[in-house]
Amino acid sequence: MRVLIFGSSGQLGQALRLTAIRDTEVTYASHSDCDISNQRLVVQFMDAVEPDFVINCAAYTAVDRAEEEVEHCYRINALAPQIIAKCCSRVQTRRLIHISTDFVFDGAKKTPYNEEDTPNPASVYGASKLMGEKKILAEIPNQAMIIRTAWVYHAIGSNFVNTMLRLMSQRNELNIVDDQKGSPTFARSLAQLIWDLIHEGRFLPGIYHWTDAGEITWYEFAESIYEEATRYGLLSQPVVINPITTSEYPTLAIRPSYSVLGGEKMERLINRKRSFWRDNLQLFCEELRQ
Ligand SMILES: NC(=O)c1ccc[n+]([C@@H]2O[C@H](COP(=O)([O-])OP(=O)(O)OC[C@H]3O[C@@H](n4cnc5c(N)ncnc54)[C@H](OP(=O)(O)O)[C@@H]3O)[C@@H](O)[C@H]2O)c1
Repeated sequence: MRVLIFGSSGQLGQALRLTAIRDTEVTYASHSDCDISNQRLVVQFMDAVEPDFVINCAAYTAVDRAEEEVEHCYRINALAPQIIAKCCSRVQTRRLIHISTDFVFDGAKKTPYNEEDTPNPASVYGASKLMGEKKILAEIPNQAMIIRTAWVYHAIGSNFVNTMLRLMSQRNELNIVDDQKGSPTFARSLAQLIWDLIHEGRFLPGIYHWTDAGEITWYEFAESIYEEATRYGLLSQPVVINPITTSEYPTLAIRPSYSVLGGEKMERLINRKRSFWRDNLQLFCEELRQ
């Protein structure tokens, strides 16, 4: 079994590398190895590797910058997935696992979004990722799994947890948004899910949702990061965390106020429940401590 991973230096790419089973033949393609928006390079990689599975973790993920770099964002999040899907379509047994986002939804719901809910992105990033999904499904509806996830964090990378740990070691007071609710995703647990799909033969085309279980606001997440990091000896100074509203912390891109993803469809497919976000945060702190 041969697996090709695009975007291997990103958070999820790194987590896939950490969790890969030793005897799987994996080719890791980082941005510098292969620009996925370059059709010639993608074809070259596919021809050289002849993968059974392609995992696309590469994306333009700078949500606010995307509002100003619209064309560039669409090139990576919409055109590139189409290129990858077209390449996959040349071999009927080749399967693609592509990662998408909770930002395809507008956040108007108050109960978890399921896979049948109609997307309505409020940001360029969300719209570009939705277009990526559609391009893939138009090319290879029977060869692609699209996994929407949210609030991803990994030890190395730009994410909320790392930002909080840095700020909490520098400041004694922080203001954090308390009116946006979602679910964190420990990159390692998403990576493990992807490997399980491949190794347990559970690949089934379609759109799926997957995050850690449970829902919280950014403020509640920050409080928990502080508590766990202190408990694990990663922080030593007291920090006061104040809840604020989105209007008090304006950003270029509009974010959904509620973007919890229901994971039952995937849980049924994989025959196990998602782990609780706080348990995974503890695993993360444990890893950092080592
Ligand atoms: N992070 C989140 O909170 C979050 C939430 C929901 C969904 N997702 C989705 O989950 C997936 C993985 O996210 P992540 O957090 O691992 O993202 P990440 O850490 O930002 O990694 C993305 C990777 O894509 C690479 N990349 C960008 N443009 C590329 C191109 N043209 N060709 C090849 N590689 C390129 C980047 O390389 P450079 O850095 O060198 O450009 C980076 O290594 C993405 O599809 C993302 O949209 C993420």
